[in-house]
Amino acid sequence: MAASVAAQELPALAQVYAKHFMFGFGGLNDKVVRAGLAQTASPIHTIVTRQSNILGLNCFYPAQVHPRDGTYRWSDCEPLMAYAEQHPHKLRRGHVLFWPSNDRHHLEWLLSDSDGKPVNRAQAIDKLRNHVQTIVGRYRGRIQYWDVVNEAIDPQQADGLRAGRWKDLLGEEMIDVAFSAAREADPQAKLFYNDFQEWRPGKRERIFALVQRLKAKGLIDGIGLQQHVSLTEPSVAELDQTLTRFAQLGLEIHITELDVEANRNGQYSQLSPELDEAIAKRYRALFDVYKKYAGTVTAVMTWNVTDASSWLRNHPTPHATWPLLFDADGKPKAAFWGLSKP
Ligand code: GLA
Repeated sequence: MAASVAAQELPALAQVYAKHFMFGFGGLNDKVVRAGLAQTASPIHTIVTRQSNILGLNCFYPAQVHPRDGTYRWSDCEPLMAYAEQHPHKLRRGHVLFWPSNDRHHLEWLLSDSDGKPVNRAQAIDKLRNHVQTIVGRYRGRIQYWDVVNEAIDPQQADGLRAGRWKDLLGEEMIDVAFSAAREADPQAKLFYNDFQEWRPGKRERIFALVQRLKAKGLIDGIGLQQHVSLTEPSVAELDQTLTRFAQLGLEIHITELDVEANRNGQYSQLSPELDEAIAKRYRALFDVYKKYAGTVTAVMTWNVTDASSWLRNHPTPHATWPLLFDADGKPKAAFWGLSKP
C-alpha cells in the first residue's frame, strides 16, 4: 500500500516527455503485470496508469492467438484491451502479427493442410493474409499501431532473411503479404517493422533496405527499435548514428522494448547504489539521444514495468538483474528519478 500511495505522487514520465515523445510500457501481457492491472490499488496498476500514454499489448503472439489453423483465442487480449479502453487517451500498440523465425510463434502450422501435406505458395499467402486480417480486422480502429513483422532480418544469411519455412516458401514476399493484409484490414492503423540489435551496421542496413522498399509500396509507417541494451552496447555514438540513418527514411520510430542489462554474466547478486547509479546514467544518456530525434522518435517504451518480471531474469539463464525503472516492489529506482527531470 505504501508503494502504491508513493507511486500516485510520482512525476509522470508521459507528462515529463510530452513535448518530445510518448512514454509507456510494452510487454504488458505478462503474468505479474496482468495480475497488477486487474487490481486498481496495486503498484503496477498505479505505475502504468500514471506514467504512460502508450501501451504495448503483446497479447497477439501467433501461438497464443491462433494456435491452430482457424482456431482463435482472444482470452489474453480481452482483459488488456478492457484496461486500455478504460483509459482512452492511452494509445495502443499491438505486438505481433507475424514472427516468421520464432521457435514458438512461427505460424508454421498454417503451412500444412489438414492431412499434414505441405501447402503451396498460393495457399500459404492466403492463410497468412487471413491470419493478419482476422486479428487486425477484429481490433480495427482500436489499436493505433501494429508490429506487423518481428525479427525477420539476419545479416548472416546471404539474402539477409532469417532462416525458416515461410522464407523457404515465399522469400521476402512473406513480409509484403503481411503488411498489405494489415493495410487492407485497417487503413488507419500505423504499421511497423520491429527488430533487435538494430544498431549493428550490417543489420541496420538490411533493415533500412527492407523498410525503404516497403515504404515505396506505401505499406509501412514506422520502425520499431527494440533497444534491448547493455551498459555499454550500443555506445551513444552508435545509437546516434542509428537514429540518424533511420530518420532518413522519413518514418516514425518507436523505441519498443527498452531495458538495460547490467548483469548479464550474473556477477552481482544485489543492486548496489553504484550499479543503480550506473543504470540511471545509462537511461539518461539514452533518453538524451532519443530527445535529439523528437518528432521522428515518437514513442519510448520499456519492456515490462518492474524488475520483478523482466524477461532478462531468465535470459539467457536465470540470474539477478535490474533492467527497468521500478524495482521488484514497484518502487522508483535511481533510473526513474534521473529521467523524471527533463
Ligand atoms: C523480443 C520480442 C518480444 C519479447 C522480447 C523478450 O524482443 O520482440 O516479443 O519476446 O523479445 O521477452
